[in-house]
Amino acid sequence: MSLPVEKSAADELRREVLRRRTFAIISHPDAGKTTLTEKLLLYAGAVHLAGAVQARSTQRQAKSDWMELEQARGISITSTMLQFDYQGARVNLLDTPGHQDFSEDTYRTLMAVDSAVMVLDGAKGIEPQTKKLFAVCRKRGIPILTFINKMDQPGRHPFDLLDEIERTLGMTAVPFNWPIGEGSGFQGVYDFQHRQVLFFQRTAHNQRRAPMTVEAFPNPKLAETLGEAYGPLQEEIGLLTGAGTSFDRDRFLAGELTPVFFGSALTNFGVGPFLDAFTKLAPPPGPRQTAQGLIQPTDEAFSGFVFKIQANMDPQHRDRMAFLRICSGRFEKDMMVHHARLGRKIRMTRPHRLFGRDRETIDEAYPGDVVGLVNPGLFTIGDTLTSDPALTFDPIPHFPPECFGLLRTQDISKHKQFQKGLKQLEEEGVMQIFYSPDHVRREPVLAAVGELQFDVVMSRLENEYGVKTSVERLPHALARWIVGNPATILAVYWPSDTIRLVDQQGRGVMLFTTEHLLAYCIKSNPSIKFLLREEVEQATAQ
Ligand code: G4P
Repeated sequence: MSLPVEKSAADELRREVLRRRTFAIISHPDAGKTTLTEKLLLYAGAVHLAGAVQARSTQRQAKSDWMELEQARGISITSTMLQFDYQGARVNLLDTPGHQDFSEDTYRTLMAVDSAVMVLDGAKGIEPQTKKLFAVCRKRGIPILTFINKMDQPGRHPFDLLDEIERTLGMTAVPFNWPIGEGSGFQGVYDFQHRQVLFFQRTAHNQRRAPMTVEAFPNPKLAETLGEAYGPLQEEIGLLTGAGTSFDRDRFLAGELTPVFFGSALTNFGVGPFLDAFTKLAPPPGPRQTAQGLIQPTDEAFSGFVFKIQANMDPQHRDRMAFLRICSGRFEKDMMVHHARLGRKIRMTRPHRLFGRDRETIDEAYPGDVVGLVNPGLFTIGDTLTSDPALTFDPIPHFPPECFGLLRTQDISKHKQFQKGLKQLEEEGVMQIFYSPDHVRREPVLAAVGELQFDVVMSRLENEYGVKTSVERLPHALARWIVGNPATILAVYWPSDTIRLVDQQGRGVMLFTTEHLLAYCIKSNPSIKFLLREEVEQATAQ
């Protein structure tokens, strides 16, 4: 007997939602995010030899001029997406830039994931950027799995690393495995869940999966093979099994507890078991907050939001791609959806799936998936697309800029292209632009979350719009929108370490060099409000 059509469609949606795992890797530069990404692809069978993805992206980069900057710096600036299947799960890995100076892009990507993998360098532990990214995950209550990498090198004691996670991040750390041997003597891990030892062997250039042997523990044969290392290992395992905190799934899902795995992405030790555990532990897409209450991913009504816009990804086409995270319902090519901001219906033509920098057209997608839409100026970050016109998502939070600089053009004749480029880049959310209120100074002031964004702006203006620019860094570190009686604001004698500017909408913005100076200005001007961008936008919307 066949099921009624609606029932089977609902079942299919449920099945597809349940097998989705959408995550990002958070780490400090050099902890091994790129290496682990590649090795996860190797273990999932998405690439057959480690190195293949890089080789392919290098090939593509050669075609693309804005990626020259990435090549020159050896870093990935733009977020890309990888999708692969593993043991029935469909995994979406959203890449986040790994450089110290990062942009709002990184933060926005974390709005689109359901879990995160925190990669730590076993010798360094928690580093500054790990903390910053962790804070965003915590704010959103994203569950985090921890992979302590580089165990093939001399590093800190595992107890010390667990302790640091608990102390600095305030998250309970529960080891799921335990390293056997240190540095060059690192041979494998003890798996707490299955109570067995996993030994790995290196392969030539670490390009293939590391052969693994499994042994029971404790076991007299192992005492012989491990020699001196056996006693301490047995002791540590006994200690952790006896006194260790047990895994609590609810606390993990709330972001209060992290399962910890030790391994080496370079030598592939522990990567396979980690991927197994990840697909079991990481949650499928969950409910999302909308202005109309919670929506479930299995709701029939389609919904999604745009979390990233990228122009000129493919210089051959010079198009713009909007990245849509699907939150509920089934996405179909050519479907008509309601565009909340524009208040009209649009057709979802030419949806793409991306694999690194490759793209292909897709016919359908499900919650957790990210769809690339070729964007003829229709979308901006935070746009909601739904089949139910009454639905809107909460706005994506902005992150306050901390770096400011005067942008100068060396080529006056290219004024038009310069303006066009600036408008485009601001629309993409690459940076914000402020101007002098009375236009005494012609140069716009760039406001960015990280200094690297200045390089991105200069490089893209030159490569995509043919305009050479330079940035003169300003000493300011904070921006506040000032709201109050215009005459009062004008009459204030502002300290010399401040600058008064306006944003694209003509709203007054003030830059300050320090928190102290800001606090002083707030105290001295009780009738003026000093607001963050979100606060001023909320105030304008009311
Ligand atoms: P990132 O994306 O987090 O910035 O880190 P990435 O993977 O690029 O790794 C940074 C460096 O650390 C690379 O070395 C990489 O080979 C090394 N690495 C990654 N995982 C491991 C590991 O498990 N063990 C050891 N010993 N090293 C690891 P590099 O010299 O900068 O680059 P390369 O020449 O090796 O590519």
